[in-house]
Amino acid sequence: MPKIFVSQRIPGSALERLKKAEFEVDVSPIEGIMSSDELLSSLKAKPYDGLLSLLTNTIDKSVFDACPTLKIVSNYAVGFNNIDLDEAKKRGIVVANTPGQSISDSVAEHTFALMLALMRRVAEGDRYMREGKYKGWDPELLLGEDLRGKTLGILGAGRIGEQVIKMAVRGFDMTAVYYDVVRHKNLEEEYKAMFVETPEELLKMADVVTIHVPLLPTTKHLINAERLKMMKSGAYLINTSRGPVVDEKALYDALKNNQIRGAALDVFEFEPNPVSGLDRLSNIILTPHIASATFIVREEMSQMAVENLIDFFAGRDVKRKVV
Ligand code: DGY
Repeated sequence: MPKIFVSQRIPGSALERLKKAEFEVDVSPIEGIMSSDELLSSLKAKPYDGLLSLLTNTIDKSVFDACPTLKIVSNYAVGFNNIDLDEAKKRGIVVANTPGQSISDSVAEHTFALMLALMRRVAEGDRYMREGKYKGWDPELLLGEDLRGKTLGILGAGRIGEQVIKMAVRGFDMTAVYYDVVRHKNLEEEYKAMFVETPEELLKMADVVTIHVPLLPTTKHLINAERLKMMKSGAYLINTSRGPVVDEKALYDALKNNQIRGAALDVFEFEPNPVSGLDRLSNIILTPHIASATFIVREEMSQMAVENLIDFFAGRDVKRKVV
């Protein structure tokens, strides 16, 4: 009977599936995110075979040392930058994640929710109403920008980036320009998306820049002070990928000095806290890492995270194996 530790309650009924499949399942006794110490001491309690972790858990050498019986980590997330993959590989520990088309589609939708909220000043309008400032229709009140006709720059044209391109071109009559480490001819044929060879080229052309790259040593601070300077003065930046892809202090300075028009972030360099002062700027919208937070998607993620464990212990191929 494989013993599984689950580092935080997950939505839906997937854990029941594990129990029915005769796994011994222990869920964190703590409400919310476990600290590293709490995770380590829970893992020392039993010879666990598997760990269902969240992206808020740092899974590194200390975790593997605390639980030498560990064979698989199933991360309840598409991203896996919270896991030391080299160390897992060295120890022969399998790491799996929860990617899927509907997750990507939901993240793409949230990207547009942010874009619209920012450019059509929805959040500002909401605050305006709640503060009792609305005194009647005014032709100059809270003027914003249309999406149609704008050039959208997509940094990273993987599954999410592709869906963003599709929605931008088909849904909003935008023009798409993309940068990626590989060229995707299908995006050029289907959506007339233009490929550029450097992020710099994209930043100079785009009215809106949206980031869909994974966090890697090569993408950390992909958007830094120097690159922010290359953006058009009326441009907007959207980030639903990982916080450290943007140098957030540099973004704060750029927004404060009106070097770019606005930004919307769903992820933060130092989660959960935005850098000091960011939340006092009016030209930014902040959401708490909810780009994939829909009932259906989070249930699907639960099912995938559990399926990874079931397949592994049944000796089957783990479809979403990362290492
Ligand atoms: C992920 O899956 O990596 C998201 O950031 C959280 O859903």
